[in-house]
Amino acid sequence: MEAPSEPRADRAPRDPAKPLAGANVVVCVGGGIAAYKAAEVVRRFDKAGAHVDVAMTERAQAFIGPLTFQALTRRPVFTDLFSLTEEATIGHIQLADRADLVVVAPATANLIARLAAGQADDPVAAIALATKAPVLLAPSMNVHMWAHPLVQANVRRLVDVAGYRVVGPGDGFLACRWVGPGRLAEPADIVEAAAHVLSVQDLAGARVVVTAGPTYEAIDPARFIGNRSSGKMGAAIAAAAQRRGAEVTLLLGPSAVPPPIGVRTIAVETAAQLEAALGDAAARADVVVMAAAVADYRAAKPAAHKLKRGELGKKATIELAANPDLLAGLGARRKGRAPLLVGFAAETEKVLEHARKKLEVKKVDLIVANDVSEPGAGFAVDTNRVTLVDADGATEVPAGTKAEVAHRILDRVVAMRAAAAPVKKRKAR
Ligand code: PMT
Repeated sequence: MEAPSEPRADRAPRDPAKPLAGANVVVCVGGGIAAYKAAEVVRRFDKAGAHVDVAMTERAQAFIGPLTFQALTRRPVFTDLFSLTEEATIGHIQLADRADLVVVAPATANLIARLAAGQADDPVAAIALATKAPVLLAPSMNVHMWAHPLVQANVRRLVDVAGYRVVGPGDGFLACRWVGPGRLAEPADIVEAAAHVLSVQDLAGARVVVTAGPTYEAIDPARFIGNRSSGKMGAAIAAAAQRRGAEVTLLLGPSAVPPPIGVRTIAVETAAQLEAALGDAAARADVVVMAAAVADYRAAKPAAHKLKRGELGKKATIELAANPDLLAGLGARRKGRAPLLVGFAAETEKVLEHARKKLEVKKVDLIVANDVSEPGAGFAVDTNRVTLVDADGATEVPAGTKAEVAHRILDRVVAMRAAAAPVKKRKAR
């Protein structure tokens, strides 16, 4: 069957760093108290570069006016299936056809029931039924309604029969004064779930282990040897890999960075703890990315009690013991080319020279050379600039946010996996 306008299959593939840019997103607003939060959802989609249209149920309009959405989207809002003017200017079939994604937020118990029954009696239900695009449901309702077997059965039906995706609901204090699951997912989480749906899934099925953050090596119970890593770069890689379909495990040193949603995160503190966690995770991994700044040394004999001022005399010396090089250990132990190993090189001079040396000595597939002395790059900032160094040479990655840089690193990982795949297949025959 041919679509009359803008067939979805003909659209250009999206940059996984910005899957919402240029996407046609229809936000369908249901009639619940959380309808006011849909304004923030729409604003975030708009900020991410999506073309946003809004459709509302009649009851949603009791909670928030169409004018709010019209002002946010700079487009007419679809409120009435039988309005001559709305059908002439927008048309629910046209909206459904050109959508790359339909987001129902909030999806009330009543709206979910109507969608599960395949009804098309208002703009929201009609668009959801007519579209060929994926539909993302963000439920929001009273805690007991959400737990009700009929609501659960309706959601299951939408997922199993119609392929809907679901984000939330969150757990917390509800407008009905009950505490529990039923809150609309946070707008940022709804938009991230949408980005996930629209993103290329070129790491689907891949098990990716990412290390991030510093390690802390105790001197005594109060003091440690650490470094300036915030964990932002590694967390960005973990989030990016998860968005691209990978099953991600993040081994995270002491860090204030929130673990990315949907990523299994294991907190570690010392290099020894990281080594133990890495041993388990890397054994099952297809890709390991070592973005962590692992301490090369630890205190040889950490004190059991807090050292007192003057206890060590005027000139104190801490005896250090070398930590193992975890990445080099993985490189030395692996048989063949699995897992694919990506290391970083945090340098302040002769960046490429040191990076090439690390590529060779640590026996890895790719080194991400990071000049941490450059402003806007390296430790603790939100941006980075890196060079990818592999056996074929060096490629500069344009400066960008750590999320953007993470996707460029993963582009290379995907390409390396693709280049290795045919060889495997030939061997298998
Ligand atoms: O966390 P952020 O604030 O976002 O900062 C990001 C970053 C600067 C930490 C990151 O971009 C980065 O460069 N990480 C690597 C830091 C580092 O330890 O580099 P290195 O050149 O000392 O180590 C080379 C590689 O060996 C790294 O992959 C490191 O994880 C690994 N290594 C190092 C020492 C050790 N004992 N074992 C290791 O496995």
